Amino acid sequence: MAEGATERLFFALWPDAAVRAALERAGREAFVGSGRLVPAARLHMTLAFLGDVSGGTRDCLMEACNHLHLPPFDLRLDGIGWWRRSQVLWAGCDPVPAPLGALVAAIHGAMTHCGLEPESRPFAAHVTLARKVRRGGRAALTAPILWPVDRFALVRSDPEREGVTYTTLASWPLDGA
Ligand code: 2AM
Repeated sequence: MAEGATERLFFALWPDAAVRAALERAGREAFVGSGRLVPAARLHMTLAFLGDVSGGTRDCLMEACNHLHLPPFDLRLDGIGWWRRSQVLWAGCDPVPAPLGALVAAIHGAMTHCGLEPESRPFAAHVTLARKVRRGGRAALTAPILWPVDRFALVRSDPEREGVTYTTLASWPLDGA
């Protein structure tokens, strides 16, 4: 990475093949026509969005995450929703389950340690299923998605002509007791 260059980074949970398939199915079933479904390989849950960060900050975050040892947990996504402002159709869970909240808080701690300011608005546990969706509502997922979470990742986002490419830079196991 050239001196002075930055990368657009975020922390995320990346689904395994079974959860990815369930998310893809939920998106197809809830999708009402307008907008674009997110391609299956790009489905994820953002834990914290960092924006453009320097190589030094990235290295600091990686080092800080090496010291996090949180327990694995099962996430149950039971709702479908739509946000008018961002025009996003999503699957998620509300309230945020405690172990997921603890993981986000630990990542915020790492960010603060490395000189970044975590977002002040509350974390919303969601996976974006489709974008540019012009109407929608809230409903229970007919088949809740059980997501065994045992790892989190630092991911780079690169804009492309046809959308965006995500590259996992590093990931850490949830190996705490
Ligand atoms: P979204 O799915 O709710 O749109 C990579 O771009 C990930 O970071 C996406 O999942 C996106 O969340 C999130 N993201 C992108 N830009 C963001 C921003 N300005 N603030 C918060 N999250 C953002």
